Amino acid sequence: MGREEVKSIKDLDIDGKKVFIRCDFNVPLDKDGNISDERRIRETLPTIKYALSRGAKIILASHLGRPKKRDSQYSLYPVAENLSKALKKKVLFVDDCVGERVEKTISSMKKGDVILLENLRFYDGERRDDEVFARQLKRLFDVYVSDAFGTSHRRNASVHVLPKMCKEKAAGLLLLKEMEYWRKILENPARPFALILGGVKISTKLGALINLLDHLDKVIIGGGMAFTFLHAMGFSAGSSLFDEDSIEQAKFAISQAKDKKIKLYLPVDFVVAERIEEDAVTKIVPYQEIPCKWFAADIGPASCKLFSEVLEDTATIVWNGPLGVYEIDKFARGTNSIAHEVASSPAMSIVGGGDTDSAIKKAKESDGITFISTGGGASLQFLEKGTLPGIEALE
Ligand code: 3PG
Repeated sequence: MGREEVKSIKDLDIDGKKVFIRCDFNVPLDKDGNISDERRIRETLPTIKYALSRGAKIILASHLGRPKKRDSQYSLYPVAENLSKALKKKVLFVDDCVGERVEKTISSMKKGDVILLENLRFYDGERRDDEVFARQLKRLFDVYVSDAFGTSHRRNASVHVLPKMCKEKAAGLLLLKEMEYWRKILENPARPFALILGGVKISTKLGALINLLDHLDKVIIGGGMAFTFLHAMGFSAGSSLFDEDSIEQAKFAISQAKDKKIKLYLPVDFVVAERIEEDAVTKIVPYQEIPCKWFAADIGPASCKLFSEVLEDTATIVWNGPLGVYEIDKFARGTNSIAHEVASSPAMSIVGGGDTDSAIKKAKESDGITFISTGGGASLQFLEKGTLPGIEALE
């Protein structure tokens, strides 16, 4: 797909028009329902402000969480309040996303008005990529804009079938920025190029790894991913969880890396514990010596040193997935140390995934990262397939 085939919101005449902007406001909420990380909202502001400056009537829409039906716990109301503060103007919240009442509210909008619709996933048509539901949404606007990179890997009605039905459609500024960074990684990364993969969702990450191998010089595997690789190499990882179904794919990745002369690094030591809890007894062991009833909860000091040397001469670093149970301070040292290495490196560093973003924030190293993506699953799928359903639908 050519870059020029997706229009930018800046290519469209939106003056006085009803512009529907599909955002990814799927933000974490704490137990009191407060937004605990507003980055996804903040990153969408340039698109909203641009549309405001062009005299559009702005209709914002998103999902939040995975509700099966209307559920106040997943209401987007807190996002409307947050947006009102950020934009310094009232963002009207409509407690539904389709139907007569919504249409009536929209018909009385004036230029420069902003409204936020209620959670799209309160209708199961959204998840089913349902045309009937998409048609109900289509009645609300003149121009469709997607700024929802983080959701573009989902075939959900508002990001997939809906834009396919629209003639006047474009990408928002956040989606364009995400596409630019991830395409650069796929097409022309500065070398040496290192990929750091951690976390637990191994099957999606292995696809991205295998697809990227031709561009890569080095791969660092840590976190839960490492245990599947250890099993693939004939070692055990004590009681640490691994993905049995991905062992063959891990073996394939190892052999491909070898054939293509890509350096693949696994942790050489681990912090192990009998329980994954702050007060658990821990010890540091080489990877060959993980006791059978113990869990490996972090990479050890020798691995931190090794990975720091591996990253020293790199020009591009992509990181997805923490290297240990970073939520518990005792097991966060490995992730913190790599966050520090990545952030202080002169390499272009791109981070994908909510967990990695939180881990870097916890390590107070966010400022040193070149680009923190708003999409975890989306960025991996983009690296694996070179595009996403929600981007193709904008062509
Ligand atoms: C995300 O947070 O990854 C996106 O908003 C997609 O959400 P989902 O995984 O619930 O589809």
